[in-house]
Amino acid sequence: MDLNLKDRVAVVTGAGSGIGEGIARALAAEGCKLSILDRDASAAQKTASSLTGTMAQSTAVDVGDSAAVERVFAETIATFGRLDILVNAAGVLSTGLVADLPVTEWQRIAQVNLAGVIYCVKAAIPVMKRQRHGRIINIASVSAMRGGGSVGNTLYGTTKAGVVALTMGLARELGPFGITANAIAPAVVDTAMTHAALTEDAKRRILERIPLGRLARLSDIADLAAFLASDRAGFVTGATIPVDGGILTT
Ligand SMILES: NC(=O)c1ccc[n+]([C@@H]2O[C@H](COP(=O)([O-])OP(=O)(O)OC[C@H]3O[C@@H](n4cnc5c(N)ncnc54)[C@H](O)[C@@H]3O)[C@@H](O)[C@H]2O)c1
Repeated sequence: MDLNLKDRVAVVTGAGSGIGEGIARALAAEGCKLSILDRDASAAQKTASSLTGTMAQSTAVDVGDSAAVERVFAETIATFGRLDILVNAAGVLSTGLVADLPVTEWQRIAQVNLAGVIYCVKAAIPVMKRQRHGRIINIASVSAMRGGGSVGNTLYGTTKAGVVALTMGLARELGPFGITANAIAPAVVDTAMTHAALTEDAKRRILERIPLGRLARLSDIADLAAFLASDRAGFVTGATIPVDGGILTT
């Protein structure tokens, strides 16, 4: 299926590694121009320089810093001339019980996983409205539907539940401007984020609960993101789509 994404301009946060990187690669393969954002400057640079055959630049930014986000988006829009696709993939995991964790841990993860998404969306809305076209894709998690997940926890799931609610509200607010907002809810993908938590025992227990019998591949998430970024998905908005091998059914 030709997704007709050639020369569309995409910002992908957290694209220095894992799911964000996978999505950046999929969009580049479809011909998008890429702005790679990550708080890890060298990881962002590594992703951008490996995306051959299209325009790609990297910028180091902490998505939880609203002033820095505004500045970086203004620079990106000035460089590329437009902004068609925003993928919010930057995120941090936290494990532990609510009773045991200090409130600073909630503040740390909420600042990235929820406030960071809001800051990036706010920075993208004006240009998308002017274009009367835009695609916002947020990476949530099945933990949003379960109050925590196999390797996540209650606080992490709570930040992701906020992303689900934000996505629905954005769809309502921005639909009249030709902008869609959707979220993808992965279960467990073997990335740097989950690596430490994925002991052989944890992996076995998770696999027992996944009807399709395997963890997610980056391409499982990236292919859906590319579709949601395209005009083929023009009538899909406000949705949170699980890519979880069926784990939510068990
Ligand atoms: N891996 C999974 O199983 C899984 C499951 C569900 C949801 N998710 C979500 O997918 C997204 C990507 O996760 P991943 O598994 O690829 O993790 P990852 O750790 O491999 O990649 C996350 C990237 O985000 C960057 N980042 C972290 N904090 C940032 C900040 N404040 N500003 C800018 N960049 C920042 C990191 O440097 C890293 O490059 C996250 O939102 C995560 O919550 C992951």
